Amino acid sequence: MIVDSNQIKAPIGVFDSGFGGLTVLSEIKSLLPEYSYIYLGDNMRAPYGNRSFDTVYEFTLNAVKWLFSQGCHLVILACNTASAKALRSIQRRDLPQIDSSRRVLGVIRPTVESIASITNTNHVGILGTSGTIKSKSYEIEISKLSPEIKVSTEACPMWVPLVENNEYDKPGADYFVKQHVDNLLSKDNNIDTIILGCTHYPLLVNKINKFIPDNIKIMSQGNFVAESLKDYLFRHPEMEFKIEKKSDIRFYTTDSSDDFNMFASLLFNEEIIAQQVTLQ
Ligand code: DGL
Repeated sequence: MIVDSNQIKAPIGVFDSGFGGLTVLSEIKSLLPEYSYIYLGDNMRAPYGNRSFDTVYEFTLNAVKWLFSQGCHLVILACNTASAKALRSIQRRDLPQIDSSRRVLGVIRPTVESIASITNTNHVGILGTSGTIKSKSYEIEISKLSPEIKVSTEACPMWVPLVENNEYDKPGADYFVKQHVDNLLSKDNNIDTIILGCTHYPLLVNKINKFIPDNIKIMSQGNFVAESLKDYLFRHPEMEFKIEKKSDIRFYTTDSSDDFNMFASLLFNEEIIAQQVTLQ
């Protein structure tokens, strides 16, 4: 008997260049605990933030294909840089050739959809990697959905390396955090909402808070992405049907699983054992 792989239930794939997507996965898991997930961190090649469009696209496509090879019908790019630089090409060019029934979703759109209900002044600041900021994805998406919002942006190229190298809560991080927060705030006095437009940045939130006045709200993306996924699955029962519901998560990294285990176990507050994989 030939089994159609399209009908086999499979976990939701969650991808990031490294550890950042874990901040999104933990929110998704708390909102949608019944589903199974596969997390893939391309730690060996992180950070993606300073890499060219072509390289981010190639690495992200490798990761998406690997998650498809694990059976995933739905993949979330829990990475702004990959969402900004690779998502559209993968959706338009690659998916129709690979398998038009599979889906890849990003994190920028769900974040942008939530902004208008949070800002009162309609002046918003975005912190992100150089790649995300240079792509202007936030400005473009916000101008489509909420043209009344004024957007100021700041690239923070040192922040992902601080997280990936476990320096994010050390005193040395203060210098780089203050520098970029001050730069952003100097661009517009009326900013009342700052979006952490990189999934690594929630790990720096205590430092960021130190340098931001109390009246400014900081938005992490995890809960917006989780709510948006819930809504997506509600609107697409044919996809929801194909998601495995065993409430488990498998973790994979392209670098040392020891480092990954230490970091992920701390974040999830439980013992996590990842497997190392090679992407090609
Ligand atoms: N977490 C990724 C993002 O949201 C970090 C990108 C990087 O590796 O620089 O943009």
